[in-house]
Amino acid sequence: MKMLRFTKKQHLVCLLCVWCLVVDWSKAETEESEGGPMEKTEQAALYSTIQGFVGDSWNGSYLFPDPCGWTPIQGVTCDVYDDLWYVTALSFGTMRDNSLACAEIPVIRPQLFELKHLKSLSLFHCFTSPNQYLASISDEKWMDLSKNLETLEIRSNPGLIGELPSFITNLTNLESLVVLENQLTGPLPENVAKLTRLRRLVLSGNQFTGRIPEVYGLTGLLILDLSRNFFSGSLPLSLGGLNSLLKLDASNNNLEGKLPKELQSLKNLTLLDLRNNRFSGGLTKEIQEMSSLVELVLSNNHLAGDLTGIEWRSLKNLVVLDLSNTGLKGEIPRSILELKKLRFLGLSNNNLRGKLIREMETEMPSLSALYVNGNNISGELEFSRMFYERMGRRLGVWGNPNLCYHGDESKNLGDHVPFGVNRCKRIKEDTLA
Ligand SMILES: *[C@@H]1O[C@H](CO)[C@@H](O)[C@H](O)[C@H]1NC(C)=O
Ligand SMILES: *[C@@H]1O[C@H](CO)[C@@H](O)[C@H](O)[C@H]1NC(C)=O
Ligand SMILES: *[C@@H]1O[C@H](CO)[C@@H](O)[C@H](O)[C@H]1NC(C)=O
Ligand SMILES: *[C@@H]1O[C@H](CO)[C@@H](O)[C@H](O)[C@H]1NC(C)=O
Repeated sequence: MKMLRFTKKQHLVCLLCVWCLVVDWSKAETEESEGGPMEKTEQAALYSTIQGFVGDSWNGSYLFPDPCGWTPIQGVTCDVYDDLWYVTALSFGTMRDNSLACAEIPVIRPQLFELKHLKSLSLFHCFTSPNQYLASISDEKWMDLSKNLETLEIRSNPGLIGELPSFITNLTNLESLVVLENQLTGPLPENVAKLTRLRRLVLSGNQFTGRIPEVYGLTGLLILDLSRNFFSGSLPLSLGGLNSLLKLDASNNNLEGKLPKELQSLKNLTLLDLRNNRFSGGLTKEIQEMSSLVELVLSNNHLAGDLTGIEWRSLKNLVVLDLSNTGLKGEIPRSILELKKLRFLGLSNNNLRGKLIREMETEMPSLSALYVNGNNISGELEFSRMFYERMGRRLGVWGNPNLCYHGDESKNLGDHVPFGVNRCKRIKEDTLA
C-alpha cells in the first residue's frame, strides 16, 4: 500500500514534469517566433527558389519547417516586416560546411521574384558547368526585386557566359554590384550610370570588351574595379566626377590614351591601378593633385616622359609607386626623397640614367623594395651594408651595365653584395696590376 502510494506520487511528479516540459516547449516556440509567423506563400517561394538552385532532392518543408525561426538555413537571412518574417538575403554556394551548394545546372525559378523584401542576392561558385546564362528569366521579372535589392554579387562562376544582362541597370537601388570572375562578354550597358546609389562596382575578371561607358552621376561610388577584362579606348572623362572614389582599378585591359586631366578631382582616391594597359602621354602633372594616393601603379604602359614633372612632395602618402616598364627617361630626381612613407619603388625596365641617390637609404626610412633593374643607371652604389641587409632580395639593380658597387667594402658586405652588379674597379688597383 505504502509502496503503491509512493509510486503513485512519483507518477504524479513525473506527469507534472512532462506537463512542465510541454508548457515550456510551447512557450519557447512562441517566443522564438516572436517576430511573427511566415506567410505560406513567402515560405513556399523560398523553398522553391532554393530547390531551383540546389536541386530537386532538397526538401525544404521536411528539413527546415521554420526557415526564419528555429530551423534556420545557412545562407538565408530573414527580417520582420509588419509582424511577419520575410527573406532579406540569399546566398548560394558560399563554400562553407552545410551551405547551399548549387546543383550542376542551377535554375532561377520565378518564385525568386516573389521574395519582395530581398535586399541581397549572392551566387558564388554556382554556375560551374559550361555555357549557362543569367538572363534566362525575363527582365520584367527582375524588376519585381528592384525596389529592395541593394546587393547583387555574382562571383566565381566559370560557366556563366553572355553579356551583362540589361535588367541590371534597372535595379536602381543597388548599392553594391559585384560581377567578379565569371565568363561574361560583350560591352557594358551604356546606361550603367543609372545606378546612382552604387557605392561599389566590381566587374573584374570577366571578358568584357568595348569602351568604358560614361559614369556621370555615380557620385557616391567608393570602389570601381574594372580590372582583368578587355576594355579598350580611353578612360571616360566623367571619372573625374566620382569625387568620393577611394579605389580605381582598371588594370589589365587594353586601355589607351592620356591619363585624363579630370583624375585630379579625385581627392580621396587612395588606389590608382592602371598597370598592363597602353596608356601614353607621360606622367601628367594632374597626378600630383590626387593627394590621398597610397598606391599608384602604372607599370607596363607606354607612358614615356620623365619623373621630373611631378612635385612628389604633394604625394606624401604614397606607400607603393610602380612605374616599371613605362618608357621613362632621364634621371631619378632628388624630389623623390620626399616620399617618406614609400615602401615599394618600382622603376625597372625604363631608360633611366644617372646615379642612384644614396640618400634613399636615410631619407626614405620605410623603403623596403627598390627595383631599378634594366635601366642605364651608372656610377657607384654607395649604400651601406645595413641597407643591403634591409632590402635583401628586394633590391633590383642588375641590368645596368655601367653600375658597380663600392669595392673596398666587399669584404664587409658578405652575402649582401647586390645581385648582378660588378665591383667597381679602382684606378689604384688598375695601376697596381
Ligand atoms: C518533402 O517531404 C515531405 C515529408 O517527408 C513530403 O510529404 C513531401 O512530398 C516532400 N516534398 C518534396 C518536394 O519532395
Ligand atoms: C528599364 O528602365 C527603362 C527606363 O530607364 C524602361 O524604359 C524599361 O522598360 C525598363 N525595363 C524593364 C524591364 O522594366
Ligand atoms: C573625402 O574624405 C573626407 C574624409 O574622409 C570626407 O569628409 C569627404 O566627405 C570625402 N569627400 C568626398 C567627396 O566624398
Ligand atoms: C648609358 O649611359 C652612359 C653614360 O653613363 C652613356 O655613355 C651610354 O650611351 C648610355 N647607354 C645607353 C644605351 O643609352
